[in-house]
Amino acid sequence: MLNKKIEDAINYQINAELWSAYLYLSMSLDCASKGLQGAANWFEIQYQEEQAHAMKFKNYIIARGGRVVLQPIQEVQTEWNTLLDIFKDTLAHEQKVTALLNNLYKIALEETDVATQSMLKWFIDEQVEEEENATSMIDALKMIGDNGYGLYMLDKELSTRVFVPIPA
Ligand code: FEO
Repeated sequence: MLNKKIEDAINYQINAELWSAYLYLSMSLDCASKGLQGAANWFEIQYQEEQAHAMKFKNYIIARGGRVVLQPIQEVQTEWNTLLDIFKDTLAHEQKVTALLNNLYKIALEETDVATQSMLKWFIDEQVEEEENATSMIDALKMIGDNGYGLYMLDKELSTRVFVPIPA
């Protein structure tokens, strides 16, 4: 059985994951409106991944006999100036998610909840990849600058991303 403090913290994280999904869907739509269909695809996959993260936490609460309580999802930004700005916001957002997960892990340590610590390891590892992906896109876009052909080629590359289901 989950203790209340852990249950509340994971419920808060579910809301953060769903907000992340909403943010990435908004970024995907903004990319589409800019004619960047590959980037729109990349962020749509990101949206699906965040939903999957929320579901993984949901499944965990249920498996531990807890109660999932859904909270309202706050509004998100809908427009950005450039794709570089979008990826800069992506990195800043993922750094916030990392901090939230670190805090969740700290609570699990304080409450001596070993099962929650173990479950969180997957998410903590995932954050390394999330931050690395955003950083490498920022680096690439800085290199591209205002070279239209470079942006066209990067957008083509982003169109190849596919959703890979995560372990339940
Ligand atoms: Fe669910 Fe991008 O962290």
